[in-house]
Amino acid sequence: MGRFSRERGPCLKSLFSEETVRNLLSWFDINGENYPWGESPSPYSVWISEIMLQQTVVKTVIPYFLKWMDRFPDIITLSESSETEVLRNWEGLGYYSRARNILKSARIICNDYNGLFPSDRRTLLSLPGIGEYTADAILSIAFGRQYFVFDANVKRIFQRLYEILLWDSNNAGAFIKYLEELIVPEKAGKWNCAVMQLGQKVCRKNQPGCSLC
Ligand code: ADE
Repeated sequence: MGRFSRERGPCLKSLFSEETVRNLLSWFDINGENYPWGESPSPYSVWISEIMLQQTVVKTVIPYFLKWMDRFPDIITLSESSETEVLRNWEGLGYYSRARNILKSARIICNDYNGLFPSDRRTLLSLPGIGEYTADAILSIAFGRQYFVFDANVKRIFQRLYEILLWDSNNAGAFIKYLEELIVPEKAGKWNCAVMQLGQKVCRKNQPGCSLC
């Protein structure tokens, strides 16, 4: 089994170097698509977009996201809205527990945290509907913190690059540690977005564009 571990450090360093990071980030500068939630990412807008994107493709999410931001421009407006109104704006996206959890979390943030979005991971994880992936996306993209999302795209891309047969907590942990050494906190959000888009556009699950990589 290919393992991503400290023992393979020198070998991985030549494969996965600062240059790899630079290349991916500049690929994203040139080829990355500008999505509406990426324009001026606030914790609120990143949160809503990430929850919408959980089970739904980007193309479908865009009009829902824009309509949502129009109707519920901030967390206070959202927290004061009825569940019926919230569900009406979710209609067609499916998995309605996502919308119910968004409303519950908005009310908790307004009641318990003065409407200020929590910026520590443990508090984020205590909110309904916010799991590790969403917490790390919010922390890195909106707060510029050094958290790396470890989603299906990341797993697939680096599995293919380094012939990792199986991700486990050992090699995944080493991988994240390695990223932490190479990427400054403010760039973590950009890295996460770049990897997601690389996975969606080039290192696709089916028919990967290996010649473009
Ligand atoms: N899928 C999940 N989060 C995403 C993001 N921020 N951009 C594009 N696709 C995503």
